[in-house]
Amino acid sequence: MSERNTPEASSEWSRRDFLRSAASAGAGWALGQAAFAQPPASGPLSASQPASMPSSAPASAPRKADQVNVGIIGVGEQGRVLIEAAVRIPGVRFKAVCDIWPYSQKLAAGRLKSYGHDVTVYEDYRDMLDKEKGAIDAAIVATPDWMHAEHAMACMQAGLHVYCEKEMSNSLEKAKQMVLAQRATGRKLQIGHQRRSNPRYLHAINKLIHEVKLLGRVTHANAQWNRAVTEELGWAKTYELSQETLNQYGYATMREFRNWRWFKKYGGGPIVDLGSHQIDLFSWVFLNNPKSVTASGGTDYYKNYEWYDNVMAIYEFDAPEGVARAFYQVLTTTAHGLFYEVFMGVDGSIEISEIPSSGNNAFRESRAPEWDKWARMGLLGRTKAPPVSLTSEVIADARPTKPLGAWPLPVQLAKPAHQPHLENFFDSIRYGVPLNCPAEIGYETAVAVLRANDAVEAARRLEFKPEEFKV
Ligand SMILES: NC(=O)c1ccc[n+]([C@@H]2O[C@H](COP(=O)([O-])OP(=O)(O)OC[C@H]3O[C@@H](n4cnc5c(N)ncnc54)[C@H](O)[C@@H]3O)[C@@H](O)[C@H]2O)c1
Repeated sequence: MSERNTPEASSEWSRRDFLRSAASAGAGWALGQAAFAQPPASGPLSASQPASMPSSAPASAPRKADQVNVGIIGVGEQGRVLIEAAVRIPGVRFKAVCDIWPYSQKLAAGRLKSYGHDVTVYEDYRDMLDKEKGAIDAAIVATPDWMHAEHAMACMQAGLHVYCEKEMSNSLEKAKQMVLAQRATGRKLQIGHQRRSNPRYLHAINKLIHEVKLLGRVTHANAQWNRAVTEELGWAKTYELSQETLNQYGYATMREFRNWRWFKKYGGGPIVDLGSHQIDLFSWVFLNNPKSVTASGGTDYYKNYEWYDNVMAIYEFDAPEGVARAFYQVLTTTAHGLFYEVFMGVDGSIEISEIPSSGNNAFRESRAPEWDKWARMGLLGRTKAPPVSLTSEVIADARPTKPLGAWPLPVQLAKPAHQPHLENFFDSIRYGVPLNCPAEIGYETAVAVLRANDAVEAARRLEFKPEEFKV
């Protein structure tokens, strides 16, 4: 496998209750703004503005007044989330916005202009690349998954560095082409698995699991993303695209254009949309790609869509200390437990989530060496008492089932969730720091994730060959 970044509140699927009317869409945008109190940076770096340094950046990286000019393709829900994070990074200037939907164009360009970024709006990315030649250095691609390859490759071939949202593609063949295009052009290609740059995940996985070996041998993981029933996304009549425009850009209907995730042509369904972030972590923790996947799922509730609305998958890994297994579930009919990941070792577990209220603790097994020294060193917070005090009435035999005390993870992220990953991308362009999710890692994760859908369809265990993960 390629070198994984051993020494790296998303609300993607739920955000689709966003536009059911023009009015509700406006409200959603305002809420997004209120969530981030920190004002955006404007203009190039100045002496009073600290350079944004991801945890992967060397402390001595020069604080240059380098400005990176950016064009963004696809400014729907996620494109606008990325804008909100990127405008907070000193030296990042948006110059161009491209989207085929006037509604998205208007929201994004209006917001950017209010932040002092003077952007030109384009409908077709080819016009953007033509007219902005020499004026932009990098592109952010946040279009639906099926367009990532076309957009990212055209940008790299035009000399731009690219931050491309996950899933790299809904087609492994197209994802492979993206890796090849990255190598041929020598441009940076960061894939949007943003947990790989989140300091809390870096602390939990690189520091506590891999370096300190807090959990001992990690034998299991489980993760879930549970989401309540959602309505189909709608659109305001005034923003309905003509059939001619839809045809021109490959969308059969306005309904498919808005609800693209659920259709095989455009996306990969919930396990790809949501699970890719979390399944990506399994390989990071187990330091290997999976060797097999078994999965069950179906289109059981949303009969009007194409993709499986629930999937339960088990991955097996050859981890450095032996076999490890990981269970993943994505449900779209209940929000029970929300979304989080758990890594379990013989000495303890770590439960973590991109939203810390859903997981932010390490749990020590009673057999493990004392953890106080790690707390004294600041690697763990101070332990809280076990959640239940056991008495003989509560439990008959407490020896193997005693609840574990929680030790909070002390690292917090005080900025939008996607900002560190964007910082890593821009600092890679400016200072040459390594990308936390380069094309090869994005591809390996795409293989692991997309094949879960194949395992559901095959209704059997699928074995991976190591060469499947290589380009
Ligand atoms: N990293 C994360 O946490 C995260 C979260 C949500 C979404 N995503 C990813 O971001 C991408 C976008 O998702 P979204 O939720 O914003 O979807 P969305 O439907 O809200 O937005 C997609 C935008 O792309 C535009 N578009 C479609 N085809 C286009 C084309 N050919 N050229 C230009 N613009 C085009 C649409 O008009 C729309 O504005 C997806 O790949 C998704 O998987 C990532």
